[in-house]
Amino acid sequence: MNRRIVFVLLGLLMAIPPAQAQLRDAESAIKHRRAAFTLMSTYFGRITAMIKGDRPFDRPELIRNIELVQFVARLPWEAFAPGSEVGNTRAEVDIWLEEERFKAYQQDLHKELKIFLQVAQAGDMPALAQAFEDTRHVCGSCHKVFRKDE
Ligand code: HEC
Repeated sequence: MNRRIVFVLLGLLMAIPPAQAQLRDAESAIKHRRAAFTLMSTYFGRITAMIKGDRPFDRPELIRNIELVQFVARLPWEAFAPGSEVGNTRAEVDIWLEEERFKAYQQDLHKELKIFLQVAQAGDMPALAQAFEDTRHVCGSCHKVFRKDE
């Protein structure tokens, strides 16, 4: 084969995949963060049911669920990769324009979850409902600004 043709072919091979790879990356980034949020809300839902009295109160189980939310809450953020603002997502494009504000909500979530865990561990019942509301408030506040309505 003519060397020039080989170069052209190589060039083509190298040029096409990145575009496709990026698309795949964006799709998998969206899937990743949505999966993380789904898991987060599964465990948070169990907490909600317990606090509201729809589930029997069980402190070790509550502590375990808060720890799981804490753990899973570390996972969605890295998947807000550039290029993943379009696709099967409800993420507002402002996430990429107001990164600091988006990050501040993430930090608030971690902060409130830490307090919630401490309160649960201490068995401080009067403070528990408040710590729960404060945590839930962060979920809602971030959604209001950065998640599109369905
Ligand atoms: C820092 C901002 C932020 C915080 C805090 C936050 N979320 Fe979200 N959440 C989002 C964004 C943005 C999306 C949309 C993701 C997408 O569609 O790509 C989302 C999506 C979701 C979804 C939908 C998942 C799906 O696609 O099916 C659920 C459920 C959810 N969040 C639950 C929670 C819960 C529960 C909390 C609090 C414990 C929480 N989130 C805290 C930003 C946040």
